[in-house]
Amino acid sequence: SILGRSYHERVVDHYNNPRNIGSFVKDDLAVGTGLVGAPACGDVMKLQIKVDDSSGRVVDARFKTFGCGSAIASSSVATEWVKGRKMEDVLSIKNTEIAKHLALPPVKLHCSMLAEDAIKAAVKDYEAKLAKSNAGPKTID
Ligand code: FES
Ligand code: FES
Repeated sequence: SILGRSYHERVVDHYNNPRNIGSFVKDDLAVGTGLVGAPACGDVMKLQIKVDDSSGRVVDARFKTFGCGSAIASSSVATEWVKGRKMEDVLSIKNTEIAKHLALPPVKLHCSMLAEDAIKAAVKDYEAKLAKSNAGPKTID
């Protein structure tokens, strides 16, 4: 039963001391922004990655989450896990790994799903911006 179940200490830790909270400038070409919502509850998560183009690695990450404790903890963990990883490795982060790490109960699985979706959306946004900038006319700034 989930009644009487208390949160895992890692959830409490990430909820009380969220890592990498905040925002990057969205227009920065090195930044990918993922903004996703959970239909199940209406919560919203924004996760951003900063990518070093030459190495193809995520060098930094930020998040802002309007949602439950599990969603906040999931996004906090996600920002820790994406840092230093290559883009393809970032895409292999599964919500089930995050849920396992935080010992989320089944009713809270969608909260970790939000984090996986946000990572994927951030990568997609970064790649779309990059493709656009490579295709478009060169500008001097
Ligand atoms: Fe932070 Fe594991 S406790 S990522
Ligand atoms: Fe909706 Fe957690 S209850 S994200």
